[in-house]
Amino acid sequence: MSKRVISNIISQEEISPKHFRMVIDAPEVAKDAQMGQFIHLKWTSELNQQDPILRRPISLNEIDKKSGAITIIYRVIGRGTQLLSTLKSGDQVDIMGPIGMGFSIPEDSNKLIIVGGGMGIAPLYPVVKELVALDKEVTVLIGAENKGQLLNLEDYETMNVELKASTVDGSYGYQGFVTDFLDDNLADIDYIYTCGPEVMMEVVQRWATENDIKGETSLEERMGCGTGACLSCVCKIKVRNESGWDYKKTCIQGPVFPLSEVIFDD
Ligand SMILES: Cc1cc2nc3c(=O)[nH]c(=O)nc-3n(C[C@H](O)[C@H](O)[C@H](O)COP(=O)(O)OP(=O)(O)OC[C@H]3O[C@@H](n4cnc5c(N)ncnc54)[C@H](O)[C@@H]3O)c2cc1C
Ligand code: FES
Repeated sequence: MSKRVISNIISQEEISPKHFRMVIDAPEVAKDAQMGQFIHLKWTSELNQQDPILRRPISLNEIDKKSGAITIIYRVIGRGTQLLSTLKSGDQVDIMGPIGMGFSIPEDSNKLIIVGGGMGIAPLYPVVKELVALDKEVTVLIGAENKGQLLNLEDYETMNVELKASTVDGSYGYQGFVTDFLDDNLADIDYIYTCGPEVMMEVVQRWATENDIKGETSLEERMGCGTGACLSCVCKIKVRNESGWDYKKTCIQGPVFPLSEVIFDD
């Protein structure tokens, strides 16, 4: 259940240029959080509580139910994330969360694959941790502009997963796009999870359809309320009606949807 809490920042570090990892003490959020959910953030700057007015949605990258800490990784894009990056250990953030429908793990799946691109790698890390804990066979495919932007790379390197990484500038792994790893050798996979730029997810969706592999994808739409009221976050999802699709609210009906049901056409 989503709550609103004021929480203390435990730590914040710049992990690569304009990319920050923030650990927040939020036991009320961690308790109920599931992999794939997000928090809607505001910062409680004493100077100006209303700047910016809207909250910012950020995925949960780690959920530590024991200690009550949650971790987010974010890229500085505009005013909101720039302000967020100025906060330090001991400062406070105003959190609404956890929000949304998270990822699921089908009981009969044994060989699973993760395809993450750019900031889309962030919500996939808790899935990999869970799959490894369940002793599943996991292939992790991640791609980014450069090595510094391959989120959780050091974690994946020490986990019991098959890891393939790509960078556009060639600073780590294969030089090219993460989708270049998708080939027929992977076709005995049972289930796929993906998150990243829309163009990447479209390629993954096509490959999964061709190989008859089911899966889930996490979408990133612009959000206002985060509660299902404003409709700013709608996406097109296939349903059985006359037109074959309907709008769904990414904030509360997503952000995770069945991969085959998402219509990427905007
Ligand atoms: C479910 C979900 C999970 C996300 N998880 C992460 C994450 O883990 N790490 C990360 O770096 N980013 C994540 N994003 C994107 C992040 O929310 C935006 O980068 C951020 O809101 C930009 O805010 P800003 O004020 O810096 O940028 P501005 O461009 O100044 O923002 C202006 C407005 O546009 C919205 N906006 C801008 N870009 C996006 C975007 N890509 N998606 C949604 N709204 C946007 C902002 O929320 C704000 O309301 C996620 C988005 C969604 C929807
Ligand atoms: S963000 Fe308002 S309905 Fe989804």
